[in-house]
Amino acid sequence: MHPVTHTDSSSTKARQYELIHRQLIDLLGGETDLIANAANTAALLNSLLPDVNWVGFYLWQDEQLVLGPFQGKPACTRIAVGQGVCGTAVKRRETVVVPNVNEFPGHIVCDPASQSEIVVPLFNWGKLVGVLDVDSASLERFDDDDIDGLETAASILLNSLDSDQMPDLSDAAAI
Ligand code: SME
Repeated sequence: MHPVTHTDSSSTKARQYELIHRQLIDLLGGETDLIANAANTAALLNSLLPDVNWVGFYLWQDEQLVLGPFQGKPACTRIAVGQGVCGTAVKRRETVVVPNVNEFPGHIVCDPASQSEIVVPLFNWGKLVGVLDVDSASLERFDDDDIDGLETAASILLNSLDSDQMPDLSDAAAI
């Protein structure tokens, strides 16, 4: 069992993320399956991040993003490269922060409560695995600390995986 230690809201966001990262390393240790570890990553982040309403993954399959493990309301299942915030992060190959989703052209609405969003693309040795998507019902919820904190969480997940179980992504490296 993995009891969760909640972060101290009076400490800095960077310190809160340090505690999250330590727990994530412990939680994923000993397991190498992508779905199992993505599911536990979504569950831990959803438990410990304040003011979020959707945390989850879209995984790269058949040249598109397909809904993976998540916590939150039911979501759209397939997203093309360049579409929405998730597809934009893949196209740009970088983390995208959207302070106000209502002002992002092409934003895909899943939970109408979502007001701001951050999407971290997951690349393993240059090959696309998917994206980590976190939504908040508050405007301007995500800042540079969240970029650093969630990119590190994504790295912890990628480092936990057994590369033999990774899908064949050789064509995706061109994206
Ligand atoms: N808003 C995302 C779609 C996924 S949901 O937020 C869960 C987008 O525009 O890509």
